[in-house]
Amino acid sequence: MTSTLDPRSLIDADEGWIDRRIFSDPGLYELELERIFARCWLFLAHESQIPKTGDFVTAYMGRDHVIVVRKKDGGVAAFINSCSHRGNRICGASQGNARQFVCNYHGWAFGLEGELVGMPQKELYEATPGFDKSRMGLTRVAQIESYNGLIFATFDPEAPSLDDYLGDYRWYLDIVLDNDEGGTEFLDGCIKYDVACNWKLPAENFVGDSYHAQWTHNSAAMAIFGRGISPRKLENTFHATMNGHGWGFGLDMIGNAAASGHRIVTDYWRSRESAIAARLGKLRSKMVASSSSANLFPNFGFLPGHACFRVWQPMGPASMELRSWILVNRNMPAEVKDAYRQAAAFTFSPGGVFEMDDSENWENATRASTGVVTRRQRLYYGLGHNTREDHPDLPGRVYRNFFSDANQMAFYSRWADLMSAERWADVAEPSERDAAE
Ligand code: FES
Ligand SMILES: [Fe+2]
Repeated sequence: MTSTLDPRSLIDADEGWIDRRIFSDPGLYELELERIFARCWLFLAHESQIPKTGDFVTAYMGRDHVIVVRKKDGGVAAFINSCSHRGNRICGASQGNARQFVCNYHGWAFGLEGELVGMPQKELYEATPGFDKSRMGLTRVAQIESYNGLIFATFDPEAPSLDDYLGDYRWYLDIVLDNDEGGTEFLDGCIKYDVACNWKLPAENFVGDSYHAQWTHNSAAMAIFGRGISPRKLENTFHATMNGHGWGFGLDMIGNAAASGHRIVTDYWRSRESAIAARLGKLRSKMVASSSSANLFPNFGFLPGHACFRVWQPMGPASMELRSWILVNRNMPAEVKDAYRQAAAFTFSPGGVFEMDDSENWENATRASTGVVTRRQRLYYGLGHNTREDHPDLPGRVYRNFFSDANQMAFYSRWADLMSAERWADVAEPSERDAAE
């Protein structure tokens, strides 16, 4: 299905309006799969999930299901989890260790790089003119790279390098990925559950919707802490955005970590403050577990202080699978890791007090936007566009103020740029966009 809608006409970045058909149109959804999910760098796994040869996890890249596996040479391969014989899904497990992947249907076997290594009655194939085993491997991703422990891949050979794709966002990512010399790891286990919403609603929430917390999460905060969330003082709060990625934050160091409700967690960060300042600078030490949320374009969101990292996995225009992990410093004491595990279950999980608040809003916004007349009313994303400033130390486009739609509009501008371009070479460079503003 193709859409008759022109993506650029749906995003009015100058005046701050968005056409809400982007949350429901089936044709736009199909185009997103082609032009965003088959083109962008997507998060696949953390290196710590697959330490040994043959270790694997499965992941989605758009609607394409892939196997991510540690190769014999120590590198990582990713290839499509669908047999090159009759298309059967090869690997049914979400993680494990394998010497090879054998298809259930007729028994074709594939190696750790997706190459076809054997099949029953292989002599019959070998006697078949034109059969070429080397062309029967599983389709591999075009590029795969890691950044400080996080593994990303793209299906597009023309995509820029991961470093270029991340750009200045690496400065921000290092706050969570490189604040300790031991690096990071995912705690065992991935929480997966379905939310009946369009994938962009959680992405835009995490990329910079600090505004909702004081209202959406107030009753949960009252129940937990005995007091609500007071409107944040706005000095020293920021939004930063580049390449469609975004980070909204205060400089309160442990704001969100404190909301985990575990003293041992805040004590850990306080004890590490000077070491982190020595490693990353004083400014970033104030952001390390702060009141903040972030989204790496298109669908990898995280809450630095809560240690929650998640993928907004599209399953349809109004359907998403949320996959969530807990990222901690490898050298963190076991009891602090355990406190984070408990905190995540209590706050950001299917039964988590904050997650339930959020997902109800995303589901209702998705459902409402399907109304024929309802969707004619555009949505306003203009708050805070006038607060841009040149900050001497913060990279990217920076907006002062925690309450701002700036990151959200930057996310949707990037969305429109990618949706309108036939190839990566046609995608507007963010620097061009900056210059045009
Ligand atoms: S479909 Fe996989 S071996 Fe036939
Ligand atoms: Fe929220």
